[in-house]
Order: sequence, then structure tokens, then C-alpha cells
Amino acid sequence: MQTILVTGGCGYIGAHTIVDLIENGFNVISVDNFSRSSHHTLAGIEKITGQKIKNYAIDLTDAQATESIFIENPSIIGIIHFAAFKAVGESVEMPLEYYENNLFSLVHLLKLAVKYKAMHFIFSSSCTVYGNPHSIPVTEQTELQPAASPYGATKQMGETIIKDTAFVKPLSTILLRYFNPVGAHPSTAIGELPIGRPQNLVPAITQTAIGKLDTMQVYGDDYDTRDGSCIRDYIHVCDIARAHTLALQYSIKKNEPHLCDIFNLGTGNGITVLEAIQAFEKVSGLKLNYQIGPRRAGDIIAIYANNDYAVQKLGWKINYSLDDMMRTAWEWEKSIAVSK
Ligand code: WQD
Repeated sequence: MQTILVTGGCGYIGAHTIVDLIENGFNVISVDNFSRSSHHTLAGIEKITGQKIKNYAIDLTDAQATESIFIENPSIIGIIHFAAFKAVGESVEMPLEYYENNLFSLVHLLKLAVKYKAMHFIFSSSCTVYGNPHSIPVTEQTELQPAASPYGATKQMGETIIKDTAFVKPLSTILLRYFNPVGAHPSTAIGELPIGRPQNLVPAITQTAIGKLDTMQVYGDDYDTRDGSCIRDYIHVCDIARAHTLALQYSIKKNEPHLCDIFNLGTGNGITVLEAIQAFEKVSGLKLNYQIGPRRAGDIIAIYANNDYAVQKLGWKINYSLDDMMRTAWEWEKSIAVSK
């Protein structure tokens, strides 16, 4: 069996990807120091897959500790690198922590990938790298605009570091640019666990609906869009997870050192904030308590993906609709209110 090291394996997308990898015959090792995640996630993965996952609670900025994983597991052929800080607002407050955490860990992992011949390297990038695009939908060739936050800058720099490394080292690298991952595994065994007050739209919706939050705000309804609210490309986390397994299989099949391929992971549908709320209200049968508030600083007005390249090259298919995203997010919120 081929062994894959998943960093950030107890995080939101990492956990869903581990499930998909196992369901497709990969052996998985996780590294996650629980700085932004919970060990409960390991039990959730086990519940779905019936497999116990080996997790190293190691800080990836510690190069020596990280190397010990490769020494102990010489069968690692690939790395899927999720582990990173990802809160946009926090990154503005703590830029050095973001640059240190997100970039040092990446550099260490790339060095180790070369040294231990773990040839396949898949990186969690983000649609944030496009900044405020001049035209939509964006393709992988769309010119990148300046990052709007240190977090976004770490993703742009991360992509550059990987490209430059793959150019000279025998690594096959894939950069996956996520749009807005939402929803939860249909089993409700794993899902998103936001820390503190949620910044992202869907957890804000479900936490308001369940009563954890009294109310939520729609950040602006005076943009130049069809209903005045911002447009995003929401995509189910299981569809995102699926794309990682496909990207890994693609890389293994190509077996091409110096590869650096980029894929947009979005559905291709632009949805406004108000449409997302309507979809939630429809599937939950609830009336959401929200107000229209002022615009949020730094928000992109409208972005969604052209996903043709992932569909064609990876054979990727979108399995979950917007209603599915809202339904599974809501089922998950209700399940954690009871059990976790
Ligand atoms: C979506 C829309 C808000 C909360 C995030 C990451 C970014 C990138 C993509 C990952 C916006 C509106 C939100 C609320 C609202 N990916 N909103 N009320 O801003 O697209 O970015 O996903 O790395 O880095 O930060 O996502 O979910 O915060 O916002 O009206 O309470 O919902 O203004 O239009 P965003 P989001």
C-alpha cells in the first residue's frame, strides 16, 4: 500500500481527505499538533473508515521532529500539506506568526520530501491568491493580484516556493486552489469546528440557526451584484477531498519529476450571500435571524472558478449541490450541539 503523509490531518479539509484517501486504498499517516484542531476528529475518521489513524502531534516548524516522521516511515511516497494558519483577520494582527508557521513548515517539508524521496507533493492553496480579479470566472491562468492579507501572501509565496523547488528537484507538485469549502461529511462524524466566533459564512449561519449566536450580519447589500451581496463559489468539502485523491493518483500516474500543475477547485457557480441564506432556510425549514450590516473590510466583491481543467485532467466531478452543502452543514451543527 502507498503511504501518504497528511499534514493538518485533524483539520476540516484534512480529515475529509483522509477519509477519501482510505476509501481509495491509500495508507495514511497524519501529522497535526492540534493547535487549531481537535483530537476528536481522529475518532470521527475512525468511525467512518473503521481504521485507526496514526497521528504525530508534532509542530512542523520543528525541522528535527518533522524529520523523525520520515525516518520512522520510509514508505511515505507523497505528502498532502494542509497544515497552516488560515484566519485572514488574525493574519493581519500576527503577520510574523503566519509567515513563520505557514512558510517554515513548507520549506522543511519540501526539503524532507526531496531527501526521503516522497515525490508527490500536494499543496492547499486558495482562491485568495487571485486577489480582486479583473474578470470572472477565474482560470488557472488568470493573473494573480496582490494578496489582501498576510495569510493570502503566505499562499502566494507558498506557491512560488513550490514552483521554484519543483523546477530543480525531482518532485511532482500540485497546487490546489480552493474556493469556499463548506458542508460536512454526510455521516456527521466529521465537519468544521471553528475556533471562537466563526468568521466564515456557513458556520455563522448554522450557529445562528442553532442559537449559539443571537444573530448574524450580511456584510453589505450594496455591491454591484444581482442582489447587492458578495458572490462566492461554495463547494462541498467532500468534493474538495475527492479532488485531492484524484490529484494524487494523477501525479502518481504521470510520475513526472519537476511537474508543477495548478487546479481550481470550485463548482463554477457564483452564489450570493443572500442566495446562500435562502438555500439554508429552504433545507432547514427555519427563518434565519440576520441583518444587513456594513461591508467587511477586505472582502472581494465577486469570484468564482472556471473548473474545466480539474474536470478534464483529473476526471473530477461535483457530487454535492448547494442544498447538499447547507443540509450537511446543518446536520453537523445539530450533531455537535448534542454530542461534542
Ligand atoms: C463569504 C461571504 C462575506 C460571514 C474565505 C477565506 C479565504 C479563502 C476563501 C481559504 C463574504 C460574507 C461572511 C458573515 C457575511 N479560502 N459573510 N456574514 O471571505 O470568501 O474567504 O474563503 O483559504 O482565505 O477567508 O469567506 O465565508 O468569510 O465569506 O455576510 O458572518 O460571506 O462578506 O461575502 P471568504 P467567508
